[in-house]
Amino acid sequence: MSPVAPSPSAPITDPDHIPVLLTEVIDGLAPKDGGLYVDGTFGAGGYTMALLQSADCTVWAIDRDPEALERGQELAKLFPGRLNFLQGRFGDLADLLIENDVRAVDGIALDLGISSMQVDDRSRGFSFLRDGPLDMRMEKSGMSAADAVNSLPESDLANIIYKYGEERFSRRVAHAIVMARKSRPFSRTIHLADTIRAEVKRSQDGIDPATRTFQALRIYVNDELGELERGLTGAEHLLAEHGRMAVVSFHSLEDRIVKSFIRDRSGRAPNPSRHVPAPTAGKPSATFSLVNNRAITPTKREIRDNPRARSARLRIAERTDHPALSSIQGGAA
Ligand SMILES: C[S@@+](CC[C@H](N)C(=O)[O-])C[C@H]1O[C@@H](n2cnc3c(N)ncnc32)[C@H](O)[C@@H]1O
Repeated sequence: MSPVAPSPSAPITDPDHIPVLLTEVIDGLAPKDGGLYVDGTFGAGGYTMALLQSADCTVWAIDRDPEALERGQELAKLFPGRLNFLQGRFGDLADLLIENDVRAVDGIALDLGISSMQVDDRSRGFSFLRDGPLDMRMEKSGMSAADAVNSLPESDLANIIYKYGEERFSRRVAHAIVMARKSRPFSRTIHLADTIRAEVKRSQDGIDPATRTFQALRIYVNDELGELERGLTGAEHLLAEHGRMAVVSFHSLEDRIVKSFIRDRSGRAPNPSRHVPAPTAGKPSATFSLVNNRAITPTKREIRDNPRARSARLRIAERTDHPALSSIQGGAA
């Protein structure tokens, strides 16, 4: 059967969200008729729709945010029987799919972080520019950002802000938070943003001083880096031979994890010592091969049209026939 023709009138679930590096991701995954694909970060459905339009394939769409999947129902009607939703985390993707009797897929896309809809909705508490409850939970359950800033010891807060926000004034920010919460616990984004701004000056590049601490709290509350590590391992388990994984990251912490996972699994890890033979000699155990040597970045034009794309980096790898090297948490082996 021929691919479904792209329809300009087909709704993506939110017109304000422009998918990042869309052409490059779809070209990288090279969808084929009859193929099975996982969109691990459904969001507004931009990648899912493009996959479904590119070939007569089936997509399993995962998102941890229940609102994203609710909005996706309209899209499912356009592709009867070809789009399935799974609410959950991509860190559990192998188990989620195996529970649905899917044991191997031809491609997996991950577009990390949060969507424009999540940032723009002040009630979700992701934005330091709009006042809202200090929440930041993609799943709408578990520990909120307010819980974290009101309860964590100062040293833990400082470490989180340093590690996940790469904020050089992390100790100063953590101290100010702990002092401020004594008189008034944090419940609103603006209270936290103003507390940070009173401590850290705006840098010369004009970046709001609250940016790094908000990023840190979001990563911490949603365990984003742990999710990424588990998601990559899950992909290693679930991808069929020649199946491809395309991962779009937005900051160096994420890209470092993706880069080193692909480098290790493709037998390109640097030799730890020049005095001993390289452990990867012959590379018989590589589970992935590199599709692109360097990260793919957006064109100037894409950045002009969608500034959110400016820090995006795409890495693509293809599964070999070697069995997965590590086990996954839920035990699907
Ligand atoms: C950048 S948006 C994806 C946009 C999407 N590619 C599109 O074209 O519309 C990221 C989405 O992934 C979801 N997400 C982030 N981390 C996740 C995780 N660990 N598991 C499942 N969904 C996740 C977020 O809730 C958000 O909806």
